[in-house]
Amino acid sequence: MLDQIFSMYAFCKVSTIALVLAAALPCAAHPQNTHYTNPIIPGWHSDPSCIYVRKESTYFCTTSTFLLYPGIPIYASKDLVSWKLVSNVLNRPSQVPELNNVAWQQGGMYAATLRYREDKFHLVVADLGGVGSNYLFTSSDPYNDKAWNDPVKFALDPGSDADLFWDDDGTAYITVARNGLINQFAFDMETGAMGPLSELWNGTGGVYPEGPHMYKKDGYYYLMIAEGGTEQNHTETIARSRNRLGPWEAYPRNPLLTNRDTDQYFQTVGHADLFQDEDYNWWAVALSTRSGKEWLNYPMGRETVLVPATWGKGEWPVLQPVRGTMQGPLPRVNKNVAGDGAFVNEPDKFNFRPGSSIPKHLSFWRFPNTYSYTVSPRGHPNTLRLTPSSMNITGTADIQPSDPITLIMRRQTDTLFTYGVDFSFDPKLENEETGVTLFLTQLQHIDLGIVNLSSPNSKESSISLRFRVEGVGNYVGPAIEPTTVPVPKAWHGKSIRLEIKAVNTTHYSFSAALSAKPSQSQIIAYAKALLVSGGTGIFTGALVGAYATSNGGNGTTNSYLSNWRYEGQGQEIDYDTIVSSNFF
Ligand SMILES: *[C@@H]1O[C@H](CO)[C@@H](O)[C@H](O)[C@H]1NC(C)=O
Ligand SMILES: *[C@@H]1O[C@H](CO)[C@@H](O)[C@H](O)[C@H]1NC(C)=O
Ligand SMILES: *[C@@H]1O[C@H](CO)[C@@H](O)[C@H](O)[C@H]1NC(C)=O
Ligand SMILES: *[C@@H]1O[C@H](CO)[C@@H](O)[C@H](O)[C@H]1NC(C)=O
Ligand SMILES: *[C@@H]1O[C@H](CO)[C@@H](O)[C@H](O)[C@H]1NC(C)=O
Ligand SMILES: *[C@@H]1O[C@H](CO)[C@@H](O)[C@H](O)[C@H]1NC(C)=O
Repeated sequence: MLDQIFSMYAFCKVSTIALVLAAALPCAAHPQNTHYTNPIIPGWHSDPSCIYVRKESTYFCTTSTFLLYPGIPIYASKDLVSWKLVSNVLNRPSQVPELNNVAWQQGGMYAATLRYREDKFHLVVADLGGVGSNYLFTSSDPYNDKAWNDPVKFALDPGSDADLFWDDDGTAYITVARNGLINQFAFDMETGAMGPLSELWNGTGGVYPEGPHMYKKDGYYYLMIAEGGTEQNHTETIARSRNRLGPWEAYPRNPLLTNRDTDQYFQTVGHADLFQDEDYNWWAVALSTRSGKEWLNYPMGRETVLVPATWGKGEWPVLQPVRGTMQGPLPRVNKNVAGDGAFVNEPDKFNFRPGSSIPKHLSFWRFPNTYSYTVSPRGHPNTLRLTPSSMNITGTADIQPSDPITLIMRRQTDTLFTYGVDFSFDPKLENEETGVTLFLTQLQHIDLGIVNLSSPNSKESSISLRFRVEGVGNYVGPAIEPTTVPVPKAWHGKSIRLEIKAVNTTHYSFSAALSAKPSQSQIIAYAKALLVSGGTGIFTGALVGAYATSNGGNGTTNSYLSNWRYEGQGQEIDYDTIVSSNFF
């Protein structure tokens, strides 16, 4: 396997002695990037919306999270390359209690738009598959979860992918995808009162005109939308008008951005947003899937990519096509971003020290029972205690959203990675289980668990390692039966390390070891990445994490996690081209 380490830094461009003198120091401290690789925010990060806030000299992006909680992340960057999670807009169930009623595995918080005006961050988002509500969140401090308000709600069913735009007179307008048309209405930011709906544009004929964003420039209103569905036919198109309500003149060279009908490794390009950098250069973010033309093997789902754009006065914007290696007028390298979250490409090394809290980028599927996750409980320092849920990850047929499963996860953000956790677990009753999972939805996940398979009357202990596959995704082939192996006698009562590793671009290994002897790990099974591509999670992306369950039984034995590690070991950015995941 090719493992190229790209040199991302070019030397500072200095042409005169005077400039050298003036710029030598800052140049050395902050070299200029000329190249970068896509995706800029890897892993499941669909529907990006980004802004530059000049006052903070910082770029901010948000992406979709659906049922994940905390949800609606705000990523910040000063160089467009290193992105740090600085807050989660949805950080308390009381903000959107109705999210707990969404049964659809791909419902929830959808396709937000992030904007900044009058010293305030504004975010509009739809709750799909729920009560048909949309929400306006605001905050004056993007680095602080608690600064995000309890949202202003507005009912709009159907209606998704809300955009927020202010006209010159200060009136706020929300633009949404609705019944195959882009609609718009005036919006009262204080009360949530909506003006009458106006139909704007329905695109150039592609299915599902959606993801609208409105911009005003040089006396034109521009309406940029996605069309063709968020799959292989995904495109971004644009139209403009001298009037906010049209008539719309479509860009003669639409689509503005797409990889449709190409054999590019990056597919499904669309759902874009435009912003200007500190030097007033234009850029676009969009979603894209690293699947190749076949569009079958894509465990990480739809990720956030960045392309340079130009937009001359009175002209149409022109966007570079999405590729793995890009060149553009990047800001200087600068990782000095405020906030206490992790950079998206930073490894996890969590020891759950006493007094520490659960890191911001660890997520639950819907609202958790907070008492099920305890950092360093009495008598168990440097562990995360999981209290088992009665339901296992799959749950029952109706997947009762209000009865949470005990499951804590992070995104797979690298093509190649290793994720592992030590488990201290002494199951007292039959079917008590804890383990690691590679998760796409409750109906599609691959688990390696430590489970008590003894029947109440058996004399033999049968603590086992069980590998199970739920759902098939894009996998076609014989059914994959569970693999069960007894936990070796020498391991009884000792901490066991379970590991998931993407060994190559198509396969994961699931292995177990005595925590004290991690080098002697045994691979229990391999699984194809096709199993967590598509299927019930066509819009989500893979996560890895740990769970604890009694599988419907009476068990209440806690599981104690320690040494939570995740490390990226390579990003595929083109067919057979893998670059370093290094955090730089
Ligand atoms: C676009 O919408 C108009 C009504 O607003 C309708 O008459 C027209 O047929 C639509 N075109 C397409 C391609 O759907
Ligand atoms: C893409 O569009 C073509 C032509 O309209 C259609 O045949 C195909 O089914 C579409 N593919 C998807 C994934 O929507
Ligand atoms: C497993 O479950 C059985 C049946 O409930 C129980 O007798 C046994 O003590 C449990 N633990 C072990 C280590 O086998
Ligand atoms: C990927 O790894 C799996 C499991 O070891 C192996 O079966 C498969 O051949 C590998 N694929 C490639 C392309 O090396
Ligand atoms: C998961 O829970 C369901 C419902 O309780 C049960 O039918 C299923 O067997 C469980 N899975 C395992 C592996 O125990
Ligand atoms: C749980 O406990 C109750 C009461 O002791 C018992 O009747 C029931 O069979 C147990 N359920 C399981 C799955 O063991």
